[in-house]
Amino acid sequence: MRKLVVNAYQRQTQINRNIYGHFSEHLGRCIYEGIYVGEASPIPNTNGVRNDVAQALKRVRVPVLRWPGGCFADEYHWKDGVGGKATRKKMINTNWGGVVEDNSFGTHEFMDLCRQLDCAPYINGNMGTGSVQEMQEWAEYMTFDGTSPMADWRRANGSAAPYKLPYFGVGNENWGCGGNMTAEYYAGEYRRYQTYVHNYSGNQVQKIACGPSDADYHWTEVLMREAGKYMDGLSLHHYCFSGKLALDLSETDWYSLLNSALLMDEMIRVHKGIMRRYDPQGRVGLVVDEWGAWHKSEPGSHPGFLYQQNTMRDAVLAAVTLNIFNKHSDRVRMANIAQTVNVLQALILTEGEKMLLTPTYHVFDMYKDHQDATLAASFVQQEITGGEHPVPDLHESASVTADDTLTITLANLSADKPQDIDTIIVGHDFKDVSAVILTSEMSGHNTFENPNKVAPEAYTDLLRTDMGVKFQIPPRCVLKLSLR
Ligand code: AHR
Repeated sequence: MRKLVVNAYQRQTQINRNIYGHFSEHLGRCIYEGIYVGEASPIPNTNGVRNDVAQALKRVRVPVLRWPGGCFADEYHWKDGVGGKATRKKMINTNWGGVVEDNSFGTHEFMDLCRQLDCAPYINGNMGTGSVQEMQEWAEYMTFDGTSPMADWRRANGSAAPYKLPYFGVGNENWGCGGNMTAEYYAGEYRRYQTYVHNYSGNQVQKIACGPSDADYHWTEVLMREAGKYMDGLSLHHYCFSGKLALDLSETDWYSLLNSALLMDEMIRVHKGIMRRYDPQGRVGLVVDEWGAWHKSEPGSHPGFLYQQNTMRDAVLAAVTLNIFNKHSDRVRMANIAQTVNVLQALILTEGEKMLLTPTYHVFDMYKDHQDATLAASFVQQEITGGEHPVPDLHESASVTADDTLTITLANLSADKPQDIDTIIVGHDFKDVSAVILTSEMSGHNTFENPNKVAPEAYTDLLRTDMGVKFQIPPRCVLKLSLR
């Protein structure tokens, strides 16, 4: 019997809802087909945005959406994506399949999508091939309320009122597809570009600098030292590469991917340590604006479109990653899974008018009560499993909502062992306890023919004790307990 202890007397930071954020790039079928089908489409839509996808995303309470990339952002010229659609320039999407980008989804369409989802926009500017002036004018176009060439142009293009722009990324992966810069060079460029991303008309924009890839601690050191005072957030990207199709997984592959996901904890710890030296007050947030599983593209799909299936393994990966973010919410202020629909570790897959929710979607649904809740100290007795790819078999986090519900999320990473859990709760009185579980075989996934094979179910086999609740969990599962 393993002990899972929650000390709700020990309340920690508020979990920023933006940790449950998403990323949607002009890549493959994420924006086009997945989210935006255009007003003339027979697929039911509102201003071109699919109603089924919008409804599903609203259900998980998407707090913030990053757009337009990714590497796409490094070659995106926003002026090509505003004004009459018939006259918008067509361009080559060089990063993702060399297909034609017709710019029919641009700034106004993205802002309308955020309005429909009731989420905050996080726009990533182009420092790879874009100019300082272009970046300055984009901020002016979106947010200035007075008379100026850009604000007047926005009005002429249909938006009389300025938009609110809370988050702006100054460059993307500038160590790679964003210009192959050194940390030292980027830090200097960042200082210059960000100077002209102004706060117009009362808008307060938080500027997010391109941060490191994975464990590139040198990048964080240089950025914090040279440019820390000019930024509100520093990004971090970490992908878990399997090198195989999502469904082609052995037990070794199961553990190897989860082992890669758990590296997130160590990376955040070390990046946080560096950030603390330059910013002891914690003013600059760590923004993990790309994370998730990266498998081989599904057979028959365009290899440049990064379309992959999504299994129970990806769901457990999401669960442990979100637990890690919760526990580091003193510094992690935003995270954006890559990506929302039809690309990489998607929450939603579409095929024509059909749509399915992936196991990863269900984890976001189960975890949504952590948004804006207060982290509570928690601990679970673990054993190391996984052989050559060691992982702890259990992984948890806990938080208390404003209406005093204690949410505990627990993953069983073991591929084959159930666990008896004895939960001990201190500092939180509760009358009711309920649970929801997501479980399946390792490669369990949803298809358009069988879209609900992997779906959460109520879990009622709970035994109340003096101190909490006891239960058994199967292997390969994610469980949410709600105690009110
Ligand atoms: O998410 C896919 C790509 O991965 C993004 O465009 C890029 O930023 C990263 O390398």
